[in-house]
Amino acid sequence: MKEKRNEDMSGFRIIRLKEVESTNSYVRVCLDNGKGLTHRTIVIADKQTAGKGTGSNSWHSEAGKNLNLSVLLKPEPLSPEKQFVLNKAMALAVFDFIEATLPDLKVRIKWPNDIYIGDKKTAGILISNTIKGARLEDVTVGIGINVNQKKFPVDIPNPASLSMFSGTKLDLIECLESLCRFLDRRYDEIISGKSLIIDNEYNSKLYRLNEMHRFKKKGVPFMAEIRGVSGFGQLQLKTTDGENLLFGFKEVEYII
Ligand code: BTN
Repeated sequence: MKEKRNEDMSGFRIIRLKEVESTNSYVRVCLDNGKGLTHRTIVIADKQTAGKGTGSNSWHSEAGKNLNLSVLLKPEPLSPEKQFVLNKAMALAVFDFIEATLPDLKVRIKWPNDIYIGDKKTAGILISNTIKGARLEDVTVGIGINVNQKKFPVDIPNPASLSMFSGTKLDLIECLESLCRFLDRRYDEIISGKSLIIDNEYNSKLYRLNEMHRFKKKGVPFMAEIRGVSGFGQLQLKTTDGENLLFGFKEVEYII
């Protein structure tokens, strides 16, 4: 991979790469090889040759059009159970950025951490944590935001970019600066113990909150409404029979 110039934004050290397999893997390799990446480093790439999505998915992004980055946090004061609130705070930061960029649109967080505008996915987040003993050793927050891309492969479900909504080409450096400001604010909220605020705000911005919709569990469709997300990151659904259910990631599927 080729490294470009480095700089600083809102207290994040930025490492820019022209091309890399995956910014998340790059951070992981640096950590494993003791390459001393520090707390609050962001690795951003113009092009990823093997971008990772959640589960076994890959992340598609046209070179030079979007934001593909990984934020490394080494949140020493946090205990491992805080990983869920950290996930929510990072999703909120991406939400904040998109909402600030497109203030007239209905931006929502699709549990656990996709950012939707209407029924279209504009951003995805892939987080990996290392827990050592009783503390969160490091957290890599991989963020992919579709900014200026206009066409997507047909097999990607519901994709869209910010420029498809704004009708204009957005400046990627300005977008990164804005995103960094929101990441900084939300990270600060966690460190200053504002977990409740984060939980409540995250819940209030959920895609399809309190609306009856179809879901699928092990391939079987059912109707339910989203009531929130628990402190342990599980989706809380209430079925038409009034039954309250809790689901972990990949245990339930949205029908969109
Ligand atoms: C998802 O499937 O929605 C999560 C997508 C996460 C993509 C980002 S792009 C930057 C970082 N590096 C990766 O390989 N993946 C994440």
